Amino acid sequence: MKVTIFGSGYVGLVTGACLSEVGNNVLCVDIDPDKIAGLKRGEVPIHEPGLESLIQANMEAGRLAFTTDTAKAVAHGLLQFIAVGTSSDEDGSADLQYVLAVARDIGAHLNEYKIIVNKSTVPVGTADRVRAALQQSLEERDLGGMGFDVVSNPEFLKEGDAIDDFMKPDRIVIGTDNHDAAEYMRALYAPFNRNHDRVIEMDLRSAELTKYAANAMLATKITFMNELANIAERVGADIEQVRVGIGSDRRIGYHFIYPGIGYGGSCFPKDVKALEHTAGQHGYDARLLQAVDQVNAAQKRSLLSKIYTHFDSNIEGRVFAMWGLSFKPNTDDMREAPSQVLLEALWAAGARVQAYDPEAAAEARRIYGDRDDLVLCESAEDALDAADALMIVTEWKQFRCPDFNHIRARLKTPLIFDGRNIYDLETMQTEGFTYYGIGRGESSRRQE
Ligand SMILES: NC(=O)c1ccc[n+]([C@@H]2O[C@H](COP(=O)([O-])OP(=O)(O)OC[C@H]3O[C@@H](n4cnc5c(N)ncnc54)[C@H](O)[C@@H]3O)[C@@H](O)[C@H]2O)c1
Repeated sequence: MKVTIFGSGYVGLVTGACLSEVGNNVLCVDIDPDKIAGLKRGEVPIHEPGLESLIQANMEAGRLAFTTDTAKAVAHGLLQFIAVGTSSDEDGSADLQYVLAVARDIGAHLNEYKIIVNKSTVPVGTADRVRAALQQSLEERDLGGMGFDVVSNPEFLKEGDAIDDFMKPDRIVIGTDNHDAAEYMRALYAPFNRNHDRVIEMDLRSAELTKYAANAMLATKITFMNELANIAERVGADIEQVRVGIGSDRRIGYHFIYPGIGYGGSCFPKDVKALEHTAGQHGYDARLLQAVDQVNAAQKRSLLSKIYTHFDSNIEGRVFAMWGLSFKPNTDDMREAPSQVLLEALWAAGARVQAYDPEAAAEARRIYGDRDDLVLCESAEDALDAADALMIVTEWKQFRCPDFNHIRARLKTPLIFDGRNIYDLETMQTEGFTYYGIGRGESSRRQE
C-alpha cells in the first residue's frame, strides 16, 4: 500500500520504518529541511535501538523515502498519517496547531479520495476539527465535494522499545465510523496481526480518549508508588520490599510500580495535563489527574531535598556527578526529564555538575549550550572525578553493577543519591557508602 506520513519524529520515523519493512511504499514528510536532508543521507536524528538500520535497509530497497514537498506527499499515499507533535500549550491543553496545519496542507493538495489517519495524541473531538480544516481548504479550491475519511489510530509505542512495540503491538486501536476506512486500516496492519487479532475497532471519540486513558493510568500508577515511597520513608519501611509485596498481586502487577524521581518524557506529562484540561472544558474537575501532575512535579525534586538536608543547604561550589540525563534508558530524549529539574536547581544553588549519559550528551548540549557549570563527560568514570557525590538519575543498565572501589576512589566522599533505587542497601553498607534511595525508610540513609 502507498502510505504518507506527516512528521518525521519518534512516531513518524518508527511508523514509516516498520510499515516499509513489511512491504509498503512509504513517503515521510517533515517541515524541517535539515532533518529531511540528514534522513536522505541515512542519518537518523534520534537514538532508538534498531531504527537506523531499518531505515537504511528500506531506503536502499526503495520502499522508504523522505521529502519536504507537501504536494508530492499528498499525491503519494492513499493513507495520509498525521504524526506531528502535540506539546502542551500554556494552559495545559494540547497544542493542535501542527495537526491542523497538516490537515490544511492535505486539503490544499488533495485531488482524489484519501484516508487521513491521526496518529498524534489528540484530545477528544480533534478528528472533527481535522475534518473541518481539511474541508475548508477544499472549499477554498471549489472542491467541497471531494471525498475523504478521518480515522483515529493512536500510537502506543515506548521510546527505547519502539520497533518491537510497533512490530508486536498489544493492541491496534482503530477509531472510525466508516467501514471501508476500517478495512483499509485492517489490511495495513495485517502483517503485525498474524498471531491473533489485536485490532480493536471503536468510534472516533473513544479511540482518541483511549490513548489518554492509557497514559493517565500509567502515570497514575507511577505516581501512586512515589507517594507510597514518600510515606515509606517517613514510617521506616522499605518501598522496594513493599513493591514486591504488592506486585505479586496479579490485579496490581509488577509493571510501572518502580518508585523513583518522577516520570518525564514527551507523553505522560503533557497527556495528563491535556486530559485534565479537556475534562475542565466539559465541566468536570479531574482532581485525581491534577494530583498526579502535582505529586510528580514534587517528586522530581525529591533527590534535591535529600541533597540539601545532607549538606545543610550548603551547596555552593560543590561538584555533583550525574549518571543519566535522558528521561528513561535507551533513548536520548530529555523532554521533561527529571535531570533538567535537578541540573537547573543545582546550578541555581551554585553547584557544578559533571554528567554522563550513554546517548543524551548531544541533546543536553543542544538544550543548555556550553556553560562552565556543566561538564558532559565521555565516560561514567570521568564524571566521578573529585565530585562531592554521585547522583543516579536514569537507570541505564550499565550503571547497575559498577566497580564500587573505583567509585569510592574517584569521588571526594563515598556518597550516593540514588533516584532510581538501583543499588542494594546491603551492598551499599558493605561497600562503605552513605546512600540515599527513594522511599527506603530508616535505611534510606546508610552511613559508612
Ligand atoms: N514519542 C513517543 O514515545 C510517542 C508515543 C506515542 C504517541 N506519541 C504522540 O505522537 C505525536 C508525535 O510525537 P513525536 O514524539 O514523534 O514528536 P516529535 O516532536 O519527535 O516529531 C514531530 C515532527 O513533526 C514535524 N512537523 C511539525 N509540523 C509539521 C508539518 N506541518 N508537516 C510535517 N511535519 C511536521 C516536526 O518537524 C517534527 O519532526 C505526539 O502527538 C505524541 O504525543 C508519541
